[in-house]
Amino acid sequence: MTAPDTPPVCDYEGSGYRQDFWEKRGRDYEDRVERIALRRLLPAGGRRALEIGAGFGRLTAELAAYEQVVLLDYSRSLLAEARTRLGDGRYTYVAADVYRMPFRPGSFDAATMIRVIHHIADVPLALRGIRRALAPGAVFILEYANKRNLKAMLRYALRRQTWNPYSPEPIEFVPLNFDFHPAYMLEAVQAAGFRVEQRLAVSLFRLGALKRLVPVGALAGLDAALQGMAPLISPSVFTRNLAAGEGPDVTGEPLSFACPLCGGDLTPEREALRCAAAGCGRRWIRRDGIWDFKEPG
Ligand SMILES: C[S@@+](CC[C@H](N)C(=O)[O-])C[C@H]1O[C@@H](n2cnc3c(N)ncnc32)[C@H](O)[C@@H]1O
Repeated sequence: MTAPDTPPVCDYEGSGYRQDFWEKRGRDYEDRVERIALRRLLPAGGRRALEIGAGFGRLTAELAAYEQVVLLDYSRSLLAEARTRLGDGRYTYVAADVYRMPFRPGSFDAATMIRVIHHIADVPLALRGIRRALAPGAVFILEYANKRNLKAMLRYALRRQTWNPYSPEPIEFVPLNFDFHPAYMLEAVQAAGFRVEQRLAVSLFRLGALKRLVPVGALAGLDAALQGMAPLISPSVFTRNLAAGEGPDVTGEPLSFACPLCGGDLTPEREALRCAAAGCGRRWIRRDGIWDFKEPG
């Protein structure tokens, strides 16, 4: 059985994302305001949350009120870092592609996807898969990079940028890095089967000079005050979406995986799962505490 082709992935395997992007680059302000937005949008708690593109688990602590948290990422090395930080307990680590997630439909009552969709070339395909993994009524917190941000608008007005921040289509400014217009994302999320409930303008003060001059607490406080009322001209937008319509709900059952390539049921073997579907039979392995659904083992 051959699996359908999926778009290319921005591969973080072996990257120094934590050290190089967060620790050495003075991004405390961004980290703080993202946590503030998440706390505002997440429900008080629930059964099982899926963190899509969890990376090294920077934001996983924000899901503390969920009984079980599944961290999914394409990068095994970042998941290994997350596991070192967080341990096992209520966490499950899954190496997989968001286009081919290994879950039964309706497995989660919440999902987050922060700083990930800007790497996604086929947004409708990814969003449909996420909707399938969620139970009806589940909450999906999605962050995206906003092309209609103040800096881009100014640069465009001064003719220092050729692409138009007001036009709805995504802009791929470097390969596999996209900024999205709020109108495009609104339509894409709705088309995938979500009801958009709330949108927040986040990181309004993401400017090197401001970050150097104003203490991080004050800047984050100001951002927090404005997130809900500022127009969507910030570099980052957080959205709270509800899974609309009908569908299965297996959030009350223990988490069980499905074959990411054919959707078939999986039968346990020692530290592995085998697809029971006729013509498939692929085997998926758990190695060093991480389920690997990127390639059959
Ligand atoms: C910029 S990092 C963000 C990590 C984390 N959400 C955070 O905010 O710290 C993007 C993450 O998305 C993951 N990613 C990118 N494309 C993916 C895909 N197709 N499937 C699963 N994960 C993906 C990368 O491996 C990386 O960990």
